[in-house]
Amino acid sequence: MQQKTHDVLILGTGLAGLRAAVELCIKTNGKADIGIVSKVQVMRAHSVCAEGGTAAVMRPEEGDSLELHAWDTVKGADFLADQDTVQRFVQTSPNEIRLLEHWGVPWSRREDGRIMQRPFGGHSFPRACMAADKTGFMEVQALYDNLLRYNNFKRYDECFVTSLIVEGGRFAGLTLMDAPTGEFCVLRAKALLISSGGLGNLYGFTTYSQTVTGDGQAIAFRAGLALEDPEFLQFHPTGLVPSGILMTEGCRGEGGYLRNNKGERFMEKYAPKMMELAPRDIVSRSEQTEILEGRGFPGPDGMGYIQLDLTHLGAEKINKRLPLIREVCMKFLGIDPITTPIPIRPVAHYSMGGIEADIDGRTRVENIWAAGEVACHSMHGANRLGCNSTAECVVWGGITGGEIAKYLGQGARLSDLPEAKAREEEKRIFQGMLQKSGKENPSEIRRELRSLMDKHAGVYRTGPSMKQGLDKIAELKQRFQNISVKDRSRIYNSNLIQTLETENMLELAEVLLVAGLAREESRGAHSRTDFPTRDDARFLNHSMVYYTGGKPRLEYKPVTINMWKPVERKY
Ligand code: FUM
Repeated sequence: MQQKTHDVLILGTGLAGLRAAVELCIKTNGKADIGIVSKVQVMRAHSVCAEGGTAAVMRPEEGDSLELHAWDTVKGADFLADQDTVQRFVQTSPNEIRLLEHWGVPWSRREDGRIMQRPFGGHSFPRACMAADKTGFMEVQALYDNLLRYNNFKRYDECFVTSLIVEGGRFAGLTLMDAPTGEFCVLRAKALLISSGGLGNLYGFTTYSQTVTGDGQAIAFRAGLALEDPEFLQFHPTGLVPSGILMTEGCRGEGGYLRNNKGERFMEKYAPKMMELAPRDIVSRSEQTEILEGRGFPGPDGMGYIQLDLTHLGAEKINKRLPLIREVCMKFLGIDPITTPIPIRPVAHYSMGGIEADIDGRTRVENIWAAGEVACHSMHGANRLGCNSTAECVVWGGITGGEIAKYLGQGARLSDLPEAKAREEEKRIFQGMLQKSGKENPSEIRRELRSLMDKHAGVYRTGPSMKQGLDKIAELKQRFQNISVKDRSRIYNSNLIQTLETENMLELAEVLLVAGLAREESRGAHSRTDFPTRDDARFLNHSMVYYTGGKPRLEYKPVTINMWKPVERKY
């Protein structure tokens, strides 16, 4: 078995991973030896799909402030965000925008030449710095371009990581399969950053690329790291029907309306002040209520939908600010949003929870950090505000890159690799999983899992329904023991990789529902019709899920509240 060694490994090449790599290069003058691992290729990380913008306070002189951004974030989070983390975030984000500017992001501009900022949900000031509606793509490209100034990194593209080895409380290695060759290999390093993104393919109706299957969370969980607040899964209000493709909140930021089948702008009933630009949990619930009460439109997939109406914005604005939205609508639905409203409904979009990490992005394993959506720094609490995510990625990419550079400078050492563990893992994959010849088809299990999550862990939840979801997951896990992997080859075996992903997804779906079932309240994106109110006395706490004896074990930890006591959210 091949072994390769670096100073630091970065798992994931989205915004957080690339930002961390750039910071490591800067802080070590290009000296740190970095291995960058991705299951896809650099420019195919899901961050390129981010559309609407990146939040930062850029105009204090026009009325915005760091305090206001922090307050909006904490209130949007339904008071489950750690307030010290939020404060660090809002303080750091403006500088990240300026850095991205220097590194070449072609921000949209105002008439006066300054960076344009559009309104976004739950923000009381226009705060989304934007590159039309292709913000993530431009940011990823600028970061990768800048990384190319250095030659101290090696890319491991199209490598699927199967396990994370922690030995004696320290990171010792990643086991991985190189997809093009099928070779198994161990990567070792003094430090690891996990920045592998979200898990949204747990759901059938989702904005995520097919590749986003939570592998980073799953390997960390099985290695003993805690998953924090996994029950808080965000539904974005505007997923294109029937594909689920993101129709950016920028559509509403530019003035788009949501209408029911009576032509009403129904948000005036639910959030009279902020209307379509209320936080996502509120807008998604409002849409779902309209659909459930018969005021939606009949959808092609048998589900109802709502209309996102941009027709009053005019061709010039749509072409300039929302060109991708127009292109996607025309290519995928054959409709032109300049003249025709867009069919949308709430769609799985973002995981507020993730691998527990402190304010510096450090996990409880001394040489492992986490950044971006895979991590839970507790800044989004129970509901993230739009455009705070790309911002979080660059903020904690920068922070963790700097922290790891410091760690390397303090004489960090390589941990011993328990080779037996790595060999066991190789055996599990190639003599175990790849040779399975049972009756069950792993793709069918994956399909059933995704539709059960749509049904039992959606916008509205109940205890009995979540319990049913857990029972079905237990059955699917049982059936998974009896699968067969049809393709037995080593070269580009996507059948095997998707099977390993499905194994990860089963694990994470169970974690989400275990934490959701135990949280007997409604808070942010976790909305239970059997417990319709927030219960601060019992649940103003973070859920912490540990892998114990092959099963999820739940604990709680307190929220850091140093500025604002919880109050009722009104918009
Ligand atoms: O609507 C959007 O463009 C998504 C932004 C976000 O999730 O932050």
